[in-house]
Amino acid sequence: SQRPIIVQGPMPIEAEEFAQRLENVKKEKSGTFEFYIGTVNDYPVIVAKTGKGMENTAAATAVAIERYNPIAIINQGTSGGHDPNLNVFDIVLGKRTVNIGSLKSADKDENQGIDPTEWKPMDLMASEGSAGEDPNAEKIRYYQGGKDLLAAANAVKDKYTKGKIVEGTIGSADVWNNEVDRIKWFHNKYGTSVEEMEGASAAQISEAYDVAFLGIRILSNNKVNGGKYNPNTAAANQEYVYEVVKEYISTL
Ligand code: 5AD
Repeated sequence: SQRPIIVQGPMPIEAEEFAQRLENVKKEKSGTFEFYIGTVNDYPVIVAKTGKGMENTAAATAVAIERYNPIAIINQGTSGGHDPNLNVFDIVLGKRTVNIGSLKSADKDENQGIDPTEWKPMDLMASEGSAGEDPNAEKIRYYQGGKDLLAAANAVKDKYTKGKIVEGTIGSADVWNNEVDRIKWFHNKYGTSVEEMEGASAAQISEAYDVAFLGIRILSNNKVNGGKYNPNTAAANQEYVYEVVKEYISTL
């Protein structure tokens, strides 16, 4: 039988718009995760409402892969801009996704203080040894967006009229950064276009199971250029992702 496409959204406003577009829907639950199982153009598509954050997303991704054997996973939703050239309603296609919460601090004794600008990227997947001791773990791990998914997303770019669509780097952690200097630090060191709290965890688990993955994130806010939070971006992103899914199905 046909392997489904999974579309993940963390919050209700980031999943339900797409779920309403599904046909022949039935709902299943696992823990706090909700799966809307339906079709788009007669092809199986499942919308997963994962809840926010890296832990919910990792678990919801593993459960969905074990239960539904997907051909591809799209993690989508809102994000905060790290790039001054991106505005609220612009969309970033995750050519790369990266965990920006995985860090190792400098070595300091009591009363030597705390200095996050000295923290180093840490790659927990670098080896089976201790990431705190292994110098090979002092690096950034990027997850590459699936080529066919990226191609489908680029093919329907013109259908989106509320902003521009660019390829970029999505950074994820259970952190909301509001310090512009810290945001700039990530932008310079990791090349982040936007930050959110889910993409890298879904990318890591998708890679573990060899399932194609793409993050698609709309800016709902951008501290770097004064872009005020707008929750209507969540629905706009799902409208676009619906076009991406139809295009991707047409290539299968
Ligand atoms: N920083 C972190 N997460 C953000 N989100 C939207 N904007 C930001 C931001 N600036 C998303 C996260 C999470 C929720 C808080 O909104 O992905 O699901």
